[in-house]
Amino acid sequence: MLLKVSNVNKSFGSKIVLTDNNLEVGKSEIHALVGMNGAGKTTLVRIISGVIDDYEGDIIFEDKNINKLSVIERQNVGIYVVPQHAAIIPEFTVAENIILGTWPKDTLGMVDWKKIYENAEKVLHDYGLDFDPRMKVRDLSLVNQRKLNVVRALFSKAKLVILDEPTTALSSEERDSLFKFIEAQRQQGTSFILISHYLEEILRLCDTITVNRDGRSYTGYKKGEIDEATLSKLIVGESVKLLERSSEEKLKTKKVSLEVNGVSGKGMDNISFTLGRGEVLGVVGFPGSGAREICRALSGLNTISKGQITLNGREFSIPKDPKTAVNQKIIYVSFDRHKEGVVQLLSIKENISMSILTSRLKKMFGFINKTKEIENANEYFKTLAVRASSINESVGNLSGGNQQKVVISKALSALPEVLILDEPTVGIDIKSREEILALIDHLTKERGLSVLYLTNDFNELLRISDRLLFFEDGKLIVDKVNDGLTAEDVMQIRDLKDLKEGVLN
Ligand SMILES: Nc1ncnc2c1ncn2[C@@H]1O[C@H](COP(=O)(O)OP(=O)(O)O)[C@@H](O)[C@H]1O
Ligand SMILES: [Mg+2]
Repeated sequence: MLLKVSNVNKSFGSKIVLTDNNLEVGKSEIHALVGMNGAGKTTLVRIISGVIDDYEGDIIFEDKNINKLSVIERQNVGIYVVPQHAAIIPEFTVAENIILGTWPKDTLGMVDWKKIYENAEKVLHDYGLDFDPRMKVRDLSLVNQRKLNVVRALFSKAKLVILDEPTTALSSEERDSLFKFIEAQRQQGTSFILISHYLEEILRLCDTITVNRDGRSYTGYKKGEIDEATLSKLIVGESVKLLERSSEEKLKTKKVSLEVNGVSGKGMDNISFTLGRGEVLGVVGFPGSGAREICRALSGLNTISKGQITLNGREFSIPKDPKTAVNQKIIYVSFDRHKEGVVQLLSIKENISMSILTSRLKKMFGFINKTKEIENANEYFKTLAVRASSINESVGNLSGGNQQKVVISKALSALPEVLILDEPTVGIDIKSREEILALIDHLTKERGLSVLYLTNDFNELLRISDRLLFFEDGKLIVDKVNDGLTAEDVMQIRDLKDLKEGVLN
């Protein structure tokens, strides 16, 4: 046994977060830790790594009780955490990040740069990675940054690497590549604890699974002994119904809501398409393909140099900033809720109201209609089942999934005609994800909301989209109704591997 967590309890003030948690990780094992947002996974990780030192229970590592060891001492015995928000330094080069803290010096005590880069190159090569050690980390792709974090851990002789939601914001293929990398390191004898919401991949990759629910641990599930439905039921505590948008919805001829005509601009080349009233249009493409570019351009976040746009029969003037787009009823919800979504210090209510203070909530003489404000915030609070004590709780205290619900509520409060969702379920637990999808399904059908849906999660994309747009090199290359497409179909069309007559509409 490498790690044993034995009867761990933890409260923050009067709030009990972990009750009698147990789990065991063997040598060369990949152990999954799963649970809804707020279940206590990160807290447990911080206890194992020693960041939190006031807990009850025992942490045993290689048969020794390490309760008394500090974070650094635990790192020295081989426990290394890659936190949710990457710990590497973006302004440093790859090599500098790998050897952080262990600079080789020459005989005069000077840092030996030549040696640093030679070593780094060898280290990367040993782990099967081929990026240039002289590159700045901020220029690496997200998935390579995650891999670099693992390399750094292994370079410091980690025996157990704990990855807290490493796949957040990665595409399905990048996730695959990270998991392959982890699997390869496991074969060399390293153990991993992996926290993720992607159950399909967890079931494929991990040897053992521990579920955290309401602060309790349900542990010891072995690979092959549990299926996805059982696992999601264990996580949520009840069966989760996956949203399936009805197929007649997908084929219904829709009144055109948005019409994009010959739009060009940064990363966009003569793009034309229509979006029907009440339609969900999936947007597919690699980074730089034009997929995200057109979504951001319609929202006033990227510039358009040419083209016409009409919205529900009105001329839509090219937005020069998000505000002009919002005023014309197109709203964008960013995947990066930390940067572009919510203000952590403000309450749920204040965040939801932010977009409508000068419109729907405005009374005379600059006063705000308080009753309406509370009514509006409560409406979304309830429909989206935001898990918080009330609309007055500050957003910073909420889990990721619940913060995202607030971001979406804020967007919907402004009564958009077109909602543009950019990776809206990234890092969100399965229950919250289905709640968000169900709301989109409902609003499109009942209120005629039109949606552009950008995601790299093809299963989710195919469940919610009526039609798909594929982008490459700034151009729209395929516009196709989603009549029973599979994730493999989507990948093939996007990669143009098998693009033959009949695949195209
Ligand atoms: N430092 C803290 N003070 C108070 N409450 C906390 C603190 N850290 C976490 N919590 C609470 O503990 C619970 C578990 O959080 P966390 O471990 O981050 O969950 P997970 O990682 O499973 O999403 C949440 O309700 C969270 O609000
Ligand atoms: Mg967490």
